Amino acid sequence: MRVAVLNGPNLNLLGTREPEIYGRTTLTEIEQLVRAEASRLGAEVEWVQTNHEGELVEAAQQLRGRADGAIVNAAALTHSSLSLRDALLAVKVPFVEVHLSNIFAREPERRHSVLADLAVGVIAGFGAHGYVLALQALAGRLRAG
Ligand code: DQA
Repeated sequence: MRVAVLNGPNLNLLGTREPEIYGRTTLTEIEQLVRAEASRLGAEVEWVQTNHEGELVEAAQQLRGRADGAIVNAAALTHSSLSLRDALLAVKVPFVEVHLSNIFAREPERRHSVLADLAVGVIAGFGAHGYVLALQALAGRLRAG
């Protein structure tokens, strides 16, 4: 089972960025948590973080043939990026949308995701642990076929 984890803008700053909202766990530590859970589940992980919308679109395009499923935290692009939505629509690789914060309890402009209706499911509000939950949920879905 090959799982790609796509992280969008500013997630490289986790740990110091608004820790009261996003916690103090760095993205590297989240990657380690995900890789540990993946090896327990027998999954391979490809990890991507970019601050550029086009690069995230290209990473989404490349999912086809490279990943059985994906975990996507598109960060602020979640709320606006029709190009990322179109790429995910094109490749049709099942993905779980994840957010550290509960976007539904935040400012109105963060409560809407342009990706969520394409996702297998959405996990929001559990901080770094949300990535592990997303991997478990995705693995369960992929195993179920
Ligand atoms: C986020 C929520 C987004 O609204 C925000 O722009 C982010 C992070 C989250 O993980 O909670 O950068 O995706």
